[in-house]
Amino acid sequence: MASVSVRLGERSYIIAIEKTLGRLPRELKRLDPGTEIAVVTNPKVKSLFGKSAGDSFKKAGLKARFLLVPDSEKAKSLKEAMRLLASLSRMDGKGKRLCVAALGGGVVGDLGGFAASAYKRGIPYIQVPTTLLAQVDSSIGGKVAVDLPEGKNLVGSFYQPKLVYSDISFLKKLSARDFASGMAEVIKYAVIKDKALFNYLELNRRKILRRDDGALLEIVKRCAKIKAGIVSKDEREKRSIRTVLNYGHTIGHAIEAAHGYSNAYSHGEAIGLGMIAAARISRRLGIFPSEGVTKIERLIGDFGLPVKMKKADMRKIMDSLSRDKKFIRGVNRFVLPVKIGRVAVREAVPESLIREEIKKLYC
Ligand SMILES: NC(=O)c1ccc[n+]([C@@H]2O[C@H](COP(=O)([O-])OP(=O)(O)OC[C@H]3O[C@@H](n4cnc5c(N)ncnc54)[C@H](O)[C@@H]3O)[C@@H](O)[C@H]2O)c1
Ligand SMILES: [Zn+2]
Repeated sequence: MASVSVRLGERSYIIAIEKTLGRLPRELKRLDPGTEIAVVTNPKVKSLFGKSAGDSFKKAGLKARFLLVPDSEKAKSLKEAMRLLASLSRMDGKGKRLCVAALGGGVVGDLGGFAASAYKRGIPYIQVPTTLLAQVDSSIGGKVAVDLPEGKNLVGSFYQPKLVYSDISFLKKLSARDFASGMAEVIKYAVIKDKALFNYLELNRRKILRRDDGALLEIVKRCAKIKAGIVSKDEREKRSIRTVLNYGHTIGHAIEAAHGYSNAYSHGEAIGLGMIAAARISRRLGIFPSEGVTKIERLIGDFGLPVKMKKADMRKIMDSLSRDKKFIRGVNRFVLPVKIGRVAVREAVPESLIREEIKKLYC
């Protein structure tokens, strides 16, 4: 159906976007990543797609073993990574070439990629993302990590997969909440880089919410292209090009942190709120028109994401904001829309303005 390239010299790879797993064995044979494949996944994803994924690995001539991790953000821990590393070493042996497949959402992708990056200083891995968020965002770009009790993604590295294989049929089984969470990232791409995608989302809301094949292929492909383009130019976020992907994430992360990363707000829900607040900050700074703010807010609400939040502990939010690892030497840095499809990075946004706009999100 579609192939999108991530161009990184010898670390280049393709993102295959398909309606079935049919092309996976061919792609694996072409890559020849190993002889045995450790399939990192969770019980839910295994029960849904384990059989078809297992058959594809077999067709590719790979001996597959499933390594199960818990179904929650808690799986992104050093403890689970250690368990995976021990399992990898038990699978390993003379004459064997080991590789990893991360079959699941962003949690499994980040953890499986991290284990692959660490085992024997790195073995090949592939991403088979099964959530919308993972297909449009986390599986692409090689950021792999686990969390510490002190914060999210604090232990990790950049380690690119050999292949990303997105089967959009997986998305039909996603809960409405997880689908909406992925849509927040889709909306993010539209606002930062793609006005045509923004228009498409406005016009095709019903089709997308029905999870029509054509609509899913279109949004996954367009977002993958944007992310691949950004990563190809700025793999390690050294040139501020990758920074634009943080639109909505500065305040969004702070909302997640203030709620202890509980179920109160999913990542996408928090990011949706963060995008609304950032758009309003942009308007207050006089660089974004009111109509733009209204359009963004409407689209976020239309895809089932909250546009208001319960009153939260402002001290916790501001505290988390000040520890944002993207801030340079304590100066805050926001990605702000200047028009739909284009953003600017602004530093030292007045704290009073940030507080006011967060308060305006309260129900
Ligand atoms: N590496 C990156 O660049 C990057 C970018 C964004 C987010 N992330 C990380 O991604 C994680 C969030 O990812 P997520 O939103 O995919 O969450 P997730 O991996 O927890 O998946 C959400 C839920 O959906 C279930 N699931 C997965 N596929 C399914 C399917 N097809 N049908 C039904 N249920 C399915 C999972 O079991 C889980 O319960 C966070 O840890 C975040 O830090 C990483
Ligand atoms: Zn995100």
